[in-house]
Amino acid sequence: MTPPPVTGGEARSPGVDPEALVASAVEVLEATTTLTELDEAQTELLGKRSALVRAHQALASLEPAQRPEAGRRLNEARRSIESHLSERREEFERGERAARLQADRLDLTEVIAPPLRGRLHVVQRTRVELEDVFVGMGFVVAEGPEAETDWYNFEALNMPPAHPARGMWDTLYLELGEPETVMLRTHTSPVQIRLMESQGPPIYAVMPGKCYRRDTPDSRHIPTFHQIEGLVVDRGISFADLAGTIETFTTAYFGLDIHSRLRPSYFPFTEPSAEYEITCTICKGKGCRTCSQTGWIELGGCGMVDPAVFEAVGLDPDEWTGFAFGFGIDRCTQMRHEIPDMRVFFDNDVRVLRQI
Ligand code: FA5
Repeated sequence: MTPPPVTGGEARSPGVDPEALVASAVEVLEATTTLTELDEAQTELLGKRSALVRAHQALASLEPAQRPEAGRRLNEARRSIESHLSERREEFERGERAARLQADRLDLTEVIAPPLRGRLHVVQRTRVELEDVFVGMGFVVAEGPEAETDWYNFEALNMPPAHPARGMWDTLYLELGEPETVMLRTHTSPVQIRLMESQGPPIYAVMPGKCYRRDTPDSRHIPTFHQIEGLVVDRGISFADLAGTIETFTTAYFGLDIHSRLRPSYFPFTEPSAEYEITCTICKGKGCRTCSQTGWIELGGCGMVDPAVFEAVGLDPDEWTGFAFGFGIDRCTQMRHEIPDMRVFFDNDVRVLRQI
């Protein structure tokens, strides 16, 4: 610290102006930025080697009559420096307290997630995942009712009364209207008809939902299951578009190492028609009980929309072409998670479901 200016004749303290001493001390204190610097400044201003202590020691050299007054002024200067010092110390301590509080502050606005209580059934999770894949490919998602009329479930799909294909899609009929006219739908294909009736082409849609059949439960059948229907109607759609869409879906959902194939088949509402199959993920194609020793698992049916269906909904089959598919969501789940028996979805044993 620069020594305080030497005072003129008026000063009673020996060689030191107490006011100047205080002013210089205030400057030093103001310049400190931390508590440590303040401690150092305290030693410098009030310590044994400070100008103040030196001035006190020099009192002895004054005339005895001058000493009390000079001593009083030096004591006043000390009190003033001490008071500035403690003010500054309080400032720093306040700042430190505020910083600590800020650091320890509990952010009560933070959203704390509630503990997980249950989750979607694995089949519902698959439904969401399948929708995501198709939405990513440019499809929209649509839905239709589970209780359907004969027109939507059969007739508009080119299955007039007594058509033999109705036999494999038997279901429960509801006591509504004329006998055997309202039923629990056997597939999601009726939603194709509803979409074509309610909105004109172009259509690029998937339609997931629950279906019902009089099927005896076994390793890959249950009486209440889920399908996801697909329908594309536009100009110039070909079977290559259908095959490409299914191939893209297979790799997106099952991964690049899963093989798929389209096997010629028959559905009254598509022509030509095919079964969509993938390598059985349980036995990796070797043959097992789940795939009836074939090495393949059928995931769904597909084909080009039959002209009779376009006519049923009033669309000109010479102008519009399209393809449709219907995949089993439960089957997709079964193959994706390598589950030998589909009945576990139905048993609802949480110890099993929790693992999937
Ligand atoms: C149909 O239901 C046709 N509507 C599919 C279709 C749509 C063909 C559009 C052409 C155009 P199928 O009866 O084969 O097809 O059933 C399709 C898929 O639903 C099956 O491959 C299977 O994955 C699933 N599925 C059918 N019955 C059951 C069942 N009882 N339990 C579980 N999944 C089933």
